[in-house]
Amino acid sequence: MSKDTNYKREQDYWDRRGEEEYISLSATDQKRLVERIKWQGYGKVLDLGGGSGMISRLIADSPETVCVCLDISYNLLKFSPVPSVQADAFGLPFGDNSFDLIVAAAFLHHIPGREVELLEECSRVLVPGGVIVGYDPNGHCIQNKIFMSDGPFRLQFFSPDERPIMPENMQKYTAGASFKDFESFLFTFRNPKITVFEFIQRYILNFFAVGFLKKYLDRWFFWRAYN
Ligand SMILES: C[S@@+](CC[C@H](N)C(=O)[O-])C[C@H]1O[C@@H](n2cnc3c(N)ncnc32)[C@H](O)[C@@H]1O
Repeated sequence: MSKDTNYKREQDYWDRRGEEEYISLSATDQKRLVERIKWQGYGKVLDLGGGSGMISRLIADSPETVCVCLDISYNLLKFSPVPSVQADAFGLPFGDNSFDLIVAAAFLHHIPGREVELLEECSRVLVPGGVIVGYDPNGHCIQNKIFMSDGPFRLQFFSPDERPIMPENMQKYTAGASFKDFESFLFTFRNPKITVFEFIQRYILNFFAVGFLKKYLDRWFFWRAYN
């Protein structure tokens, strides 16, 4: 598959989703996320693959923060509360050392096989010592393996290219792009919409997501690395 095709079909999918504002997280999860990002409150932030700008809205709350939202989907960006750029993340239209923080919220798992390439581009636009954070579906999670990976049970609901990622592979990808001090932890969002997927997770699996089972039952992992 050519890179152009890959780009186009994700764009088409997200432009369709952008017929209405896309807000993936509940208010509680958004609050938790802000705590996890640990933004210092001043400087320049890139909301990468930012969609409707949910993260931008949370981060740009501080008057000393300049936040830009970048996405391939024009329809989603129409909802962004901050200055926005429609572009492919593989060719960021910014100079070197432009940002202190990049937030790649639920984004890296949409570009399987090109993670290091993308992270190298992120490294270029981040200042030395700058931070990249993100969260992605955990590749060890049983639900993700069944319903998100290639196979007969993959749900059509997911975008064409998204695939879960193993946290240890994300560590390798960040190291491959010369990022340092990778850290990550597992967690599960509480999806406001009770789909079958969410029902199984919330009312059955979450109770067992402790000890060694956590790795196989928690749906997401949050990660951070330094330029
Ligand atoms: C799951 S959504 C996350 C949106 C947003 N970060 C959030 O958390 O609400 C993934 C986003 O990645 C964007 N995307 C996919 N491929 C992209 C690319 N090559 N360049 C820029 N954005 C891309 C999609 O358009 C979509 O908005």
